Amino acid sequence: MSKQTDDFFKNIISHAKEYGFVFPSSEIYDGLSAVYDYGQLGSELKNNLKAYWWKAMVQLNENIVGIDAAIFMHPTTWKASGHVDGFNDPMIDNKDSKKRYRADQLIEEKIDRYEKDGKTDKAAQLQKDLDDALNADDLARLKTIIEEHNIVCPVSGTKNWTEVRQFNLMFATQMGAMADGAEQVYLRPETAQGIFVNFLNVQKTGRMKVPFGIAQIGKAFRNEVIARQFIMRMREFEQMELQFFVRPGSELEWYNRWKETRLKWHLALGADPAKYRFHDHVKLAHYANAAVDIEYEFPFGFKEVEGIHSRTDFDLKQHQEYSKKKIQYFDTEINQNYIPYVVETSIGLDRLFLTVLANSLVQEDLSTEDKQDSRVVLKFHPAIAPVKAAVLPLTKKDGLPEKAREIMNSLKLDYNIQYDEKDSIGKRYRRQDAIGTPFCITVDHQSLEDNTVTIRHRDSMEQERVAVDQLGTIIGNRVSLTNLLKELV
Ligand code: GAP
Repeated sequence: MSKQTDDFFKNIISHAKEYGFVFPSSEIYDGLSAVYDYGQLGSELKNNLKAYWWKAMVQLNENIVGIDAAIFMHPTTWKASGHVDGFNDPMIDNKDSKKRYRADQLIEEKIDRYEKDGKTDKAAQLQKDLDDALNADDLARLKTIIEEHNIVCPVSGTKNWTEVRQFNLMFATQMGAMADGAEQVYLRPETAQGIFVNFLNVQKTGRMKVPFGIAQIGKAFRNEVIARQFIMRMREFEQMELQFFVRPGSELEWYNRWKETRLKWHLALGADPAKYRFHDHVKLAHYANAAVDIEYEFPFGFKEVEGIHSRTDFDLKQHQEYSKKKIQYFDTEINQNYIPYVVETSIGLDRLFLTVLANSLVQEDLSTEDKQDSRVVLKFHPAIAPVKAAVLPLTKKDGLPEKAREIMNSLKLDYNIQYDEKDSIGKRYRRQDAIGTPFCITVDHQSLEDNTVTIRHRDSMEQERVAVDQLGTIIGNRVSLTNLLKELV
């Protein structure tokens, strides 16, 4: 990361904290690694992002329904899904610093370094060696690679490494009394399995016909070995997942459709299209026949925000085998029973939140010949902005606060509105810019005479005088989720 991008990323983190978007978890006890709390504005933004996803999936598609499955699931679920045996990261410890690393990430960092130094052949060979070792599950080879390439611990600077071991990422806990009968259960590492185990319930009770989808938003937990980059890699995070069940043989067509649909959904939020790209998986999981990531260019480079996977019939088949319950669908159009194939779209809400912050945070220089000036603005799409408008009486007297409160009371029935009468109007505008409020409504003495106010637009900073009874329409047109959804249909 260059100094400039590093500073920008630090600005995002400090801005998020300063204005009540994201706080380190249990901060008064010095925080908990890779766990974060969403503050008063962060939760509003998160709720708006969830509503955008949910409505785009469930409301706009008559063949998609949403569920809310429990976080705890029968432990056999995770045996069937492959998580008990295969949801591992290769990990290595440095004996001097006592720090733990993901062996593959240490090697990837070395590849990056070779590339930066122009040693492209060396980088390509190392990438191949890494891929071969990972594909063969050869942990000893990973250690040899680390030694051969003189990879040292970033903290101690030594090569005093332990063996590479597999580390399961699931959090386990006990359900029931502590006595012998207590059962080991897991905090779900993905929401997808809650959908698979409910396939029959939803299909039958909802009389769903293939192709159809089940959507879900919920928490997931992973004991990430290396958790870093703020809310990018967390131990507790939130996913928004869709499992779309299709007739076998049609999955790649649906996969391509979902790829386009999902990218369009991201772009409608207003980001520069050049900031997004598809990254096709070259190495596919054994159950997948196609997989792609939608990546966003964060200050630290292009990284995955959403995964789209054609998962074949792997999950339903596994649950059929482990549960011994027939999980099939009778397709009346072709008179056949089959286990549907699945196309999954899986987006991390926290990563999406970070893309939105990174995409919206702007420092603008407003200096003129006479005066130096600048402002920090969060240029959120108005439909997801945490606060839609602020009502500001020009002064604290002459009946202006009362008039402002009257306006606020009528708008708050539809929108999240703030009232602010403290400090100069300029300072108040800046405060609202910094939290991304699209409109500031200023109530002045003229308002008392003709029932008009000025409305200031966040991005252009232009002001116009409008009648109070037009405010609902003006604000509604810009902040309504409906208009954003219209771009998708
Ligand atoms: N059901 C498929 C699945 O879980 P994944 O690629 O492991 O696939 C999907 O995760 C998405 O969840 C990722 O694209 C990412 O946005 C988010 N995600 C995964 N691990 C995360 C973590 N530790 N912290 C924050 N988000 C995470």
